[in-house]
Amino acid sequence: MAKFSDGDPAYLLNQQYRDSSQLSKRIALHEHFSTNPYGLHQWVFDHISTQPSAHILELGCGAGALWTHNAERIPTSWDITLSDFSEGMLASAQQALIALPHPFHIEVINAQSIPHPDKSFDVVIANHMLYHVPNRQQAIQEIRRVLKDDGHFYATTIGRAHMQQLDELVIKRVPPAEPDDIAENFGLETGEAQLRKSFSHVTIHIYDDALKVTETEPIIQYLHSKPLGFSDALTSEQIEDIRAEVNAEIEQHGSFYVTKVTCLFECWG
Ligand SMILES: C[S@@+](CC[C@H](N)C(=O)[O-])C[C@H]1O[C@@H](n2cnc3c(N)ncnc32)[C@H](O)[C@@H]1O
Repeated sequence: MAKFSDGDPAYLLNQQYRDSSQLSKRIALHEHFSTNPYGLHQWVFDHISTQPSAHILELGCGAGALWTHNAERIPTSWDITLSDFSEGMLASAQQALIALPHPFHIEVINAQSIPHPDKSFDVVIANHMLYHVPNRQQAIQEIRRVLKDDGHFYATTIGRAHMQQLDELVIKRVPPAEPDDIAENFGLETGEAQLRKSFSHVTIHIYDDALKVTETEPIIQYLHSKPLGFSDALTSEQIEDIRAEVNAEIEQHGSFYVTKVTCLFECWG
């Protein structure tokens, strides 16, 4: 199976995150078929605790979903900088945020080198992105550096079992040369030790969720969008075979069940 490295910045920047089209397909699956009716972005927002007039930096903001999903709740006094290393992603974010009354600063930033002075921010957020950063320890040190002494860092990620039934659809047909290493890079089971090198307090919050997918095509679209080389690795017969397997499961049980493991690390000190 073709194996992309999840830490390969050229691949991430020029293909996977050149724009928001691949990410949108994956987000669509979650939005339509998640069992938890309280959305992840609203849940993350609930945990952000800070004072009025806070300076907030988001790294790897993608298409700005955290803010579009909480448009009504953003305190007018917050000064918010949204950043990503992909200009295409930031263009999508800018487009999505046009309708919001709140002003946002938009900046191209690679998380490994944050072009802001020490102690600039009350809050830094990095959702589902640290696992992509090759020099993660440097990025975490940069985050600690730009945070004020009493500032908080929030980072969401996945666990090892996240979406395992969808990965298995592919893996059992074309075994990967190496395991998919996103959750190993920075996940529920592996993130805390990395964060503790820069923060004295790390708390883990678990978001309870799963998918019950009642249509086959969104699963096929999801697999095509994954940074796993799915469409290159499988023949058209194998893709048809996956379609048939998912169809049969939905006919028999009413849905295709998928495990989700999502967490939020909250760090300070
Ligand atoms: C899975 S997406 C998550 C987007 C958004 N945070 C969300 O939760 O919807 C990962 C994002 O991280 C960005 N990214 C990857 N490596 C990065 C880096 N080294 N520095 C900054 N952004 C990066 C990608 O361009 C992409 O927008």
